[in-house]
Amino acid sequence: MGIACSMKISFKTLSAKVTKTDLLVLLSPEGKTPKLPSGVSIPKSVATSFLGKSRETRFTDAIDGPAERVLLIGLGKGKPFDLETVRRAAAIAAQKAEKTDAASVTFWVDLKLGKSAEDFGQALGEGLVMGAHRLVDFKRSPKKSSLKRVVIQSSKEISSGAKTGAIVGEGNTFARRLQDTPANKMRPKDMVAEARKIAKGSPRITAKALDEKAMKKLGMGSLLSVSRGSSEPAYLIHLVYKPAKKAKRKICLVGKGLTFDSGGISIKPSARMDEMKYDMSGGAAVLGTFHALAGLNPDVEVHGLVPTSENMPDASSVKPGDVVTASNGLTIEVLNTDAEGRLILADALAYAEKTIKPDAMIDLATLTGAVVVALGHELTGVMGNSKTLSDELVASGQTTGELVWPLPIIDFHKEDMKGSVGDLKNIGSPSTGAGSCTAGAFLSNFVGEIPWAHLDIAGTAWGATSRDYQGGPVGTGVGVRLLVDYLKKQK
Ligand code: BES
Ligand code: ZN
Ligand code: ZN
Repeated sequence: MGIACSMKISFKTLSAKVTKTDLLVLLSPEGKTPKLPSGVSIPKSVATSFLGKSRETRFTDAIDGPAERVLLIGLGKGKPFDLETVRRAAAIAAQKAEKTDAASVTFWVDLKLGKSAEDFGQALGEGLVMGAHRLVDFKRSPKKSSLKRVVIQSSKEISSGAKTGAIVGEGNTFARRLQDTPANKMRPKDMVAEARKIAKGSPRITAKALDEKAMKKLGMGSLLSVSRGSSEPAYLIHLVYKPAKKAKRKICLVGKGLTFDSGGISIKPSARMDEMKYDMSGGAAVLGTFHALAGLNPDVEVHGLVPTSENMPDASSVKPGDVVTASNGLTIEVLNTDAEGRLILADALAYAEKTIKPDAMIDLATLTGAVVVALGHELTGVMGNSKTLSDELVASGQTTGELVWPLPIIDFHKEDMKGSVGDLKNIGSPSTGAGSCTAGAFLSNFVGEIPWAHLDIAGTAWGATSRDYQGGPVGTGVGVRLLVDYLKKQK
């Protein structure tokens, strides 16, 4: 396995002396002369020509003092600072450190931010950890990460926020590692192992996994129809996080964990089929969120369900036209075996509704190619039965920069998903279009009366444009920061 991030972050006050470091990073607002710590000096022309615009950088050798080199990064205009700029500034610093083989970096953040200090710090911590993340590779000699030690010298509030941000950032990079790992090394049983590891790391988290036998007993014929063609058995992972004091709210997260989606008998074209290793990104987001919960300990009970399976063609695969029965008794005509995500989510949602009975549930799934057409790679689509819940997720999208945009489910879409020989069919009629909405309409049959939101992350889970801390044809870990922000607000 390639390297993840092995850097250690520590904190110091602004009154402490800056100690020896390979790179000193100064985050500086627009329109102010950069304020260097005492004892550090850089060429005068560098400081005077630096404007501090958002993402502006200036890199120089230090003339004197404990730092080898100094990197100035602009924050733009403040009050409050744009958090996305802060995240990106921290990520730029981590990348510059890596490029110059720096082993130690000190962030010098001398800013009076009042109430926004914690949020600023959190964005800094997130950007730093996400920016330092390296893609998992499987080369004979994987490249070692140079960055080992980071010191953040700042106010108490910014440092406290940065601690939180680092935990959230690690949740994000945990999800990305699972996403980027190829499907022969991230099988359903590997997802189960990752869930168990998370539970081992926290006294407040437990993990269990229902195997195919247990799911059969519960009548999960919809989920089990998907794994029939694969030699890898399916599981339903169930993680539970219980806070120290009794929680007022219980939230259930459900993530699609298709470790490879070939399409099954309705097989996909071969071009870019390799990307279907990312079809477990919803599951990765749920596991990444639990990874973060272990460090954050918020006052809310959280359940995480990850139905995980492969979708493969085989003599025993489910066939177009087959009718299967979900655990809530509804029968489904499988008209296209490539619309499998909704089949595994159906039984997971029904299980949540029947046995967990949460106050709200949120599913995340790389569910439809149609959402990529509608919203592209920068926006996640949200649908559901509760405007309050989708509004909350849109708001968390604004805070975290993981943008979320509402899409409708109308009665017409629900009507269209009714089957002819089964209660439901798993694809809409050819003339209906709105593939993301009909998928949402299908899911709405499995949530009962529970407030529910469905996040279609097919566009945002990978392939996003560069934001310094993410981007390109690799996993984004989308959902983790969004969900953590949402959960933090559930008290
Ligand atoms: N995993 C895919 C959705 C997908 C496609 C995600 C492309 C990201 C990029 C899903 O299982 C699927 O195949 N959906 C079909 C549904 C269709 C058959 C109704 C799709 O979107 O084409
Ligand atoms: Zn599919
Ligand atoms: Zn799929």
